[in-house]
Amino acid sequence: MAMSPSSLPATTTPHVLLIPYPAQGHVNPFLRLAKALHARGFYVTFVHTEHNHGRLLRSRGPGAVAGAAADGLRFETIPDGLPHAELDATQDIWALCEATRRECPAHVRELVERLGRTEGVPPVTCVVADGAMGFAVHVAKEMGLSAYLFFTPSACGFLGYLNFDQLVKRGYVPFKDGSCFTNGYLDTPLDWIAGMISNVRLRDFPTFIRTTDAEDTMLTINIKQCEIDAPAADGILLNTFDDLEGAALEAIRARLPNTFTIGPLGPEVSPSSYLPSLTSSLWKEDDRCVAWLDAQPADGSVVYVNFGSITVVTRGQMVEFARGLAAADSPFLWVVRPDMVRDGGEMLPVPEGFAEEVLGRGLMVGWCDQEAVLGHRATGGFLSHCGWNSTVESLRAGVPMLCWPFFSEQVTNCRYACEEWGVGVEMARDAGRGEVEAAVRELMGDGEKAAAMRRKAAEWKEKAARAVAAGGSSQLDLDRFVDEIARASTSSSS
Ligand code: UDX
Repeated sequence: MAMSPSSLPATTTPHVLLIPYPAQGHVNPFLRLAKALHARGFYVTFVHTEHNHGRLLRSRGPGAVAGAAADGLRFETIPDGLPHAELDATQDIWALCEATRRECPAHVRELVERLGRTEGVPPVTCVVADGAMGFAVHVAKEMGLSAYLFFTPSACGFLGYLNFDQLVKRGYVPFKDGSCFTNGYLDTPLDWIAGMISNVRLRDFPTFIRTTDAEDTMLTINIKQCEIDAPAADGILLNTFDDLEGAALEAIRARLPNTFTIGPLGPEVSPSSYLPSLTSSLWKEDDRCVAWLDAQPADGSVVYVNFGSITVVTRGQMVEFARGLAAADSPFLWVVRPDMVRDGGEMLPVPEGFAEEVLGRGLMVGWCDQEAVLGHRATGGFLSHCGWNSTVESLRAGVPMLCWPFFSEQVTNCRYACEEWGVGVEMARDAGRGEVEAAVRELMGDGEKAAAMRRKAAEWKEKAARAVAAGGSSQLDLDRFVDEIARASTSSSS
């Protein structure tokens, strides 16, 4: 049975400092983890960047980040190293990775020291940092704290990153020249990657290998995270479950034995009724979505379209999506983020008059409560960029996917969703309106492929629920993690 911090002497309340990478797909699972740890009696400090803290205040008001400070879940901020900008949009991921790695170690150290001097706050005993904030492990270790890394991608995606170093050493990366992006080189099969599906290709690896520059920022940072930061951590957390990614997890554990699988980090692990005012959603959800879904008579009839928080598309691509969705006959709920169109300026990114044209059968909103949408009886398919949170939320909800990956390990998630988990079909990157229409018809139709995907999705839904139920693999691993960090804090304070 896991040791609960409440069963420890009052003088040793363990204090966990959580440091997510400052992007939507990272702060979401981290807040879930924060609430789960707080519910188990830990004192928790959640670190936002000043930029994201400002966004939460603007979109949600102070309640989003202030609610439970008195009860041991507090929010603190650090600068992210980029110039100040009051923009309600995703920051440049490349610049942010470089800036956080350069600037944040000193801020994290200063924060741990400051918390140590704050009256009524127990000293920090453990740091759980994002895999993309791996530098924090070294700061924590220098300060005598236990340190864990939570890599928010899938296990298969993380395994892809763990092989970047080998891809460089074996001469696959960096690419010889620009022609490698289009001449079939990406289809090179790799048969030596332990734990990956047998027919994995270069194109299935996180897209940061697609460079001709050996010094490329994202290539070198990812290698550092895997080769230097991860092995220095006391353990690794992943938002997945053993049944789903057994082979990849075995290969990861061969290198990083103390790996905990605690997903899906959904409402079973952290119910929405727990500290409900505390949110990590950086955009304000449009609350018309659920009422619109309620009004759809047929179960499983709606295709939900959402490309996450980072994807940007051209205005031309938006027009092709709009025309394809309108022609496909299924009602659709389409999230068009205000900062999603690269060359759209201030213009509405869907064609003029489109909202009126599809009135009643298509709803466009700027942001939604995705889990509510995926869990709604009317939702039958998800056209997704295959961000890991979206993928695992879709598996948890039993909704099959049309996969249109944009970057990073989304391409790996797409390959696994289609080939390994049987819940997805891939749509070409340059799909025009005809292909969008055909793909949506296939996903939402009565064909054999769609029926098989629905069956698989229902199976994964059940397995995901089992993993997080009492006695399930993820629940047991979360207990084991709680136990470990509680014990580490007792030994460090005795
Ligand atoms: C992605 C990948 O997750 C990550 O693995 C990769 O390394 C970088 O890019 P993102 O585009 O944010 O991040 O996608 P996703 O992982 O799917 O996360 C989006 C999160 O925002 C999900 O939790 C989703 O539920 C939430 N969301 C999204 C909403 O609540 N409402 C929306 O309208 C859209």
